[in-house]
Amino acid sequence: MFPKNAWYVACTPDEITDKPLGRKICGESLVLYRGPDGQATALEDFCPHRGAPLSLGKVENGKLTCGYHGLEMGCDGKTVAMPGQRVRGFPAIRAYPAIERYGFIWVWPGDAALADEAKLHHLEWAENPAWAYGGGLFHIHCDYRLMVDNLMDLSHETYVHASSIGQKEIDETPTKTVVNGDEVITSRHMENISAPPFWRMALRGNGLADDVPVDRWQICRFTPPSHVMIEVGVAHAGKGGYDAAAEHKAASIVVDFITPETETSIWYFWGMARNFKPDDAELTATIRAGQHTIFSEDLQMLELQQRNLLAHPERKLLMLNIDSGGVQSRKVIDRLLAAEAPQQVAA
Ligand code: FES
Ligand SMILES: [Fe+2]
Repeated sequence: MFPKNAWYVACTPDEITDKPLGRKICGESLVLYRGPDGQATALEDFCPHRGAPLSLGKVENGKLTCGYHGLEMGCDGKTVAMPGQRVRGFPAIRAYPAIERYGFIWVWPGDAALADEAKLHHLEWAENPAWAYGGGLFHIHCDYRLMVDNLMDLSHETYVHASSIGQKEIDETPTKTVVNGDEVITSRHMENISAPPFWRMALRGNGLADDVPVDRWQICRFTPPSHVMIEVGVAHAGKGGYDAAAEHKAASIVVDFITPETETSIWYFWGMARNFKPDDAELTATIRAGQHTIFSEDLQMLELQQRNLLAHPERKLLMLNIDSGGVQSRKVIDRLLAAEAPQQVAA
């Protein structure tokens, strides 16, 4: 189950350049493309003629044409034309609210009447030229909530990411979790430690010494429906840690948009936004490559964990202190699901 009345990242703009894109989101099969004015458009991936996926068709001058018998579909889900046919009585297909903002195409898979652009979180890093962003997309066979758990409990870094961002001090430093309405924040601050390899690279990238003790922080922020932004960084020790002046630290935001595909698979849009050396494209590429390697390490763990859970649905799992960020995030999700329940049942 996933909240459907929410904005999810459906794709990045480069995925809908000349061909329509078929993508399942929250159990809904969508076709995504650009309409006549270049506007991002999301429709049901179902041709009203014989049910062929429209995503196998083509887009010309913003017109989506079915690849089977040439039906031409409008951005509102109404058939515009079909060779040799009168299309007036053709049933409409579903059109999903879509917006393009912050370098992503967002869709609202639930009740279109409730879609509200104001509900899209404001992402300062995506608009402000003082920031640079690099990221990617993984398709993972796991429940979206396992990914939320993963990101809200970074103690796994010590084990899964031992050679890049892991270090024993993560395990040894307790976290603090607070809940502000629908937002859950889990934070950890480590002092006077040595920087692991990824952070040494980032320190060097910012022109700072990488062989001196540092203070390190991780502030994981969950917001509905399933987005996790993590403020991470290191500062030369004793300069104020998280609050240190910019010239003493390398800090960034790990960006995670987790879009459920099915109950047990996700589209995971990951990336990192940083506000140091924003014009250094080489540094962006280096960080992105490092993050790609690090996040790849989670895939097998999540997929095989999912397989275990499906094989043993009766097993009760533990909830330890380190799990509190994920547990609280799931409570928020459960609340949203309960609020949508009558609607999801009726749909
Ligand atoms: S199935 Fe699309 S035109 Fe026939
Ligand atoms: Fe991880």
